[in-house]
Amino acid sequence: MSRQITVGIVTVSDRASAGEYEDHGGPALRAASIKAGWEVLSEAVVPDELEAIQRTIRGFSAQGCALILTTGGTGIAVRDVTPEAVRGIMRVEIPGFGEAMRMKSLEITPNAILSRSLAAIVDRSLVIALPGKPSGAVECLGFVMGAIPHAAKLAQGVPTSC
Ligand code: MTE
Repeated sequence: MSRQITVGIVTVSDRASAGEYEDHGGPALRAASIKAGWEVLSEAVVPDELEAIQRTIRGFSAQGCALILTTGGTGIAVRDVTPEAVRGIMRVEIPGFGEAMRMKSLEITPNAILSRSLAAIVDRSLVIALPGKPSGAVECLGFVMGAIPHAAKLAQGVPTSC
């Protein structure tokens, strides 16, 4: 029997973390994770600050999250630093995830090209940085869903065959 994928969800948003508006991205990803049959272990809302993002991702990895989904901060606004935060702590990037998310999303909106969404291995976790719009985050997750079980197992060091 294969073990359930354990998930951590990080909403990256200055305004949501300050309580200026309600976080909708995190709950949307929680619902999508549960629908996929995964177990959500940890959730957090953090500001668009490099160190807060990195600390949260590493903490969730240490708690045993095989998959860590971030939403927000992938764009080109001055405060958007999620890709830099992930790249600053990753072992390897997995470029195919970003390529597929942008390619498929461009069929939905031309603004998809503005997202620097990516996936990487950090410690023992697969980290996927998704756009901030809740519908966009769920759409992008759907585009790469098929590769997640295999990638998450490899990240955890579980022997696995294709
Ligand atoms: N991708 C999908 N699938 N759907 C979307 O609505 N929004 C785009 C893009 N990617 C979107 C999307 C927009 S409007 C922006 S600005 C970028 O993601 C970056 O978003 P972020 O800075 O909130 O991460």
